[in-house]
Amino acid sequence: RRPVSLPRLQQMREAGDKITMLTAYDATFAAVADAAGVECLLVGDSLGMVCQGLGSTVGVTLETMIYHTDSVARGLRRVQGTAWVVSDLPFGSYQESKEQAMRSASALMHAGAHMVKLEGGGWTTETVRFLVERGIPVCAHLGLTPQTVHALGGYRVQGKGDQAAQTLRRHALDLQDAGATMVVLEMVPAQLAAELTQELAHCHTIGIGAGNGTAGQVLVLHDMLGMNLGKMAKFVHNFMQDAGSVRGAMEAYVRAVKAGTFPDNARHAW
Ligand code: KIV
Ligand code: NA
Repeated sequence: RRPVSLPRLQQMREAGDKITMLTAYDATFAAVADAAGVECLLVGDSLGMVCQGLGSTVGVTLETMIYHTDSVARGLRRVQGTAWVVSDLPFGSYQESKEQAMRSASALMHAGAHMVKLEGGGWTTETVRFLVERGIPVCAHLGLTPQTVHALGGYRVQGKGDQAAQTLRRHALDLQDAGATMVVLEMVPAQLAAELTQELAHCHTIGIGAGNGTAGQVLVLHDMLGMNLGKMAKFVHNFMQDAGSVRGAMEAYVRAVKAGTFPDNARHAW
């Protein structure tokens, strides 16, 4: 197997081959997910909640993201893994200036990330352009952006109604223009996510709680294994239930995403 790359993701996109992504925070889970055929691993700042026991992702620091990115990258190297590694820029590590974002992104790239992800639209466009021009692949993140949960007023569906949908669409198109090659769409209506996917030919939409019309899907590892501290979100499916092993659960996830059977718009979407 050849390493996953931006050209390879674009080819998958054009072939209609769904892109699979799971979060990974340590060496072993990264290696197992890679072996299960998951193309993209996200070192998400959700690790604040699932690994550190925080109430939100707001408290996650760059130092912590570097630590987990290092672990994931080492795990993949050990097994000569081919997965594309995306690392989250945590809250406070990119908002101040383009230069601050570049410094933080460089630290994640040094740790082994292939791409960095940052949340929000509008003001982030120039930051994305700055990073992409300097050779850093960038994934955007629109819809429910957990780092701003306190400003949003809770974890709820975003982009509902004409006005909100139009703003989200403009943000997404501007981010593609600025060079973002991937965008996570979190908790947005399935129809809006599907329309955006048609409009963004070079920026691959990765959905979570966004229906099955996106170019790919992502889930938090612990959620899809049925391990969670609180209430399970509606968009999650427990793939461990009918699998004999973690590897089996990941393979079932990959199969379901590729076949278009997960997510089921009737059960997991808005
Ligand atoms: O941190 C994370 O796990 C994420 C995904 C839910 C997209 O950002
Ligand atoms: Na995140």
